[in-house]
Amino acid sequence: MNHLINCLKSTKITSGSIKSTCILFRSYSSTTTPTIDYNTLIPENGNIPKSLLDKIGKNLHSSHNHPLNIIKKKIQYHFQSKLSNDQVDFQFFDDFHPRVSVKSNFDELLFPKDHVGRSPNDTYYFNKNQVLRTHTSAHQNDILRDGNRAFLVTGDVYRRDEIDAVHYPAFHQMEGLRVFSFPSDGDKKSHFDPSINFYENQEYKNNKEVKIVEEDLKRSLESMIRGVIGQDLQVRWVDAYFPFTSPSWEMEILFNGKWLEVLGCGVVHPEIMHNTGLGHDRAWAFGIGLERLAMILFDIPDIRLFWTEDSRFHDQFKGVDKSNPSEKGKKLQDIDIKNIKFQPYSKYPSCFKDISFWIGDDFHSNKFFEFVRECCGDLVENVELVDNFTNPKTNKTSQCYRIHYRSMERNLTNEEIDQIQFNLRDKIESSLDLKLR
Ligand code: PHE
Repeated sequence: MNHLINCLKSTKITSGSIKSTCILFRSYSSTTTPTIDYNTLIPENGNIPKSLLDKIGKNLHSSHNHPLNIIKKKIQYHFQSKLSNDQVDFQFFDDFHPRVSVKSNFDELLFPKDHVGRSPNDTYYFNKNQVLRTHTSAHQNDILRDGNRAFLVTGDVYRRDEIDAVHYPAFHQMEGLRVFSFPSDGDKKSHFDPSINFYENQEYKNNKEVKIVEEDLKRSLESMIRGVIGQDLQVRWVDAYFPFTSPSWEMEILFNGKWLEVLGCGVVHPEIMHNTGLGHDRAWAFGIGLERLAMILFDIPDIRLFWTEDSRFHDQFKGVDKSNPSEKGKKLQDIDIKNIKFQPYSKYPSCFKDISFWIGDDFHSNKFFEFVRECCGDLVENVELVDNFTNPKTNKTSQCYRIHYRSMERNLTNEEIDQIQFNLRDKIESSLDLKLR
């Protein structure tokens, strides 16, 4: 059930099964918000495990010939060569540190105080005021205040989540934003008016300027995604909700017969434009997950592979990007990836172990997933809830999770997995609100 709630809160069920929508694009598109002050739940010393802190600074998206770097450059190439001109010149920001303020990650993006995205069950907090950014949108406001009017930001982002082949607590996003000025008859008044609900107001959504921005947004993103994936790609738009844009959409692409969400976007909320000194302008913004695109394009079957240091992975992408990494800042070239498909070097067998326990009120599945990741490492391929039972008399709930173990690099022995599972059982009761069965 928690699993379900997780999916629901991070995406609307607009198409396909819940599973298929929640695995492909993790977005902040939910409107359901329980009234709760998440601030009171943040542990004083934060909730970031050591294994995750070790990921900071790896900058996979900046590593030459890494598949995430290849995808990033293909997107940047499109913005530089097809969507920039005499008036617009997209600037690229790739080096912002993922430690950001709660203000940048949530407040300035108009997240309500009780938005579930703020929950420490979803977000990694250093302390009450600082988080590991959960999305690259965290940089929008500052970059706008610095006077930039068209830009792309790439970075590692972090969210507590379930464990399976397409979810990992650290992943990469790319944010794009473009500002538009409209000739005015001397009336330079801000578009922002606190009495208007911009999420719902139809007059605003049908405004001529807003429509122009919407059309440019959709045209630009369709051309970008076709430039990256292929000209014959089928694309459709689904209405969405984000606190920082209105109207908002998600783009879905038809891939192997299934509609998959690949990005979220919208017209930047007039309050953000106003707060950044651009109240008389309008803008569009989008955010796209890089792992999902790379997995689709290169047939990469498991998200853990992006973090591997195994040369059998990296050798397959060697030489794909012909540019010279030392010549930064030069005009980008398109990278031909047509025939680049990842060949699994071997699929070692997996094995699974079950663990059952009674859960207390403070239990959250994301805490459990993270504990498993922390305790058992990247050998964990997938964790699934296989049984959930509430005793009607005692009102106590018992859950059973199946942990699948697999190495990408070698065969695992039974003894080694027994040892890992034993260690997990040994530590878990003192760390989480549960009682082993
Ligand atoms: N930041 C959003 C997410 O991660 C995506 C997004 C970016 C949506 C910009 C609209 C505009 O879900």
